[in-house]
Amino acid sequence: MIDKKLHNELNSFSHLWKDGTTLAKQGWDKVAKERKSINDIHRICIEPYVNENTNVLEIGCNGGGWTKKMLHANSFVGFDALSSDHTGFWRNILPHDNIRYVQVKDFECGELENEEIDYVFSYDVFCHISYSGAKAYLKNLYPKLKDGTNLFVMIADIDKYKDDNGLKKLLSLSGFDNLQEFVDDYDGEAKNGRWFFYGLDRFCEAIDESGYTLISRDVMGELDPRSPTVHFRK
Ligand SMILES: C[S@@+](CC[C@H](N)C(=O)[O-])C[C@H]1O[C@@H](n2cnc3c(N)ncnc32)[C@H](O)[C@@H]1O
Repeated sequence: MIDKKLHNELNSFSHLWKDGTTLAKQGWDKVAKERKSINDIHRICIEPYVNENTNVLEIGCNGGGWTKKMLHANSFVGFDALSSDHTGFWRNILPHDNIRYVQVKDFECGELENEEIDYVFSYDVFCHISYSGAKAYLKNLYPKLKDGTNLFVMIADIDKYKDDNGLKKLLSLSGFDNLQEFVDDYDGEAKNGRWFFYGLDRFCEAIDESGYTLISRDVMGELDPRSPTVHFRK
């Protein structure tokens, strides 16, 4: 049984990202002109790992902005808290037998077969997931992954997030007016697509507890100025 807090969290996005995120709506080339980092993330986290034999899971695929860079894989599963109608996924992605979109109702990963997946990507998603949710995903994903699976997950870490204007916006979304209280509330209630700053130390502790091996705490480093992307492996 999913607990009430996580159930509310999954339902808290229902008014957000209608018809897709900026990346899904505007497309890669337009967004890459302003956010050069997406090309770097693709070059470092996706290109070397995804080929015609790969079985991909993308967590938080939304309208398929990143998905388009992984469609040459053997199979693709996209998890999202929102329906495909809401995110516009199938309006952007040509339906195919080897592509599945799953609107998740919990963090159990019960829609996946054991050892079905051998690559996981998630960008701009775990920052919207509370620490309990992140830990539940890490634990429940484990049996669904083949040995050797590479996982790339971007998370929020206050030590890297140095954009004052961005922080002001995140604070006001969350309803906090004190930054430290907001950061300390890393396992609090979801609201308005707020962020959860549990940070690298806690996330790495959770990946260790679930049995994964840490490869890099922040594979993007300076190339992604605001948030770390953690590379780990089953
Ligand atoms: C800011 S959007 C990012 C979408 C996409 N990754 C991108 O970069 O364009 C966050 C997405 O994560 C989804 N999401 C939030 N919590 C989730 C969860 N626990 N499982 C799956 N998707 C989730 C939201 O519904 C939303 O589509």
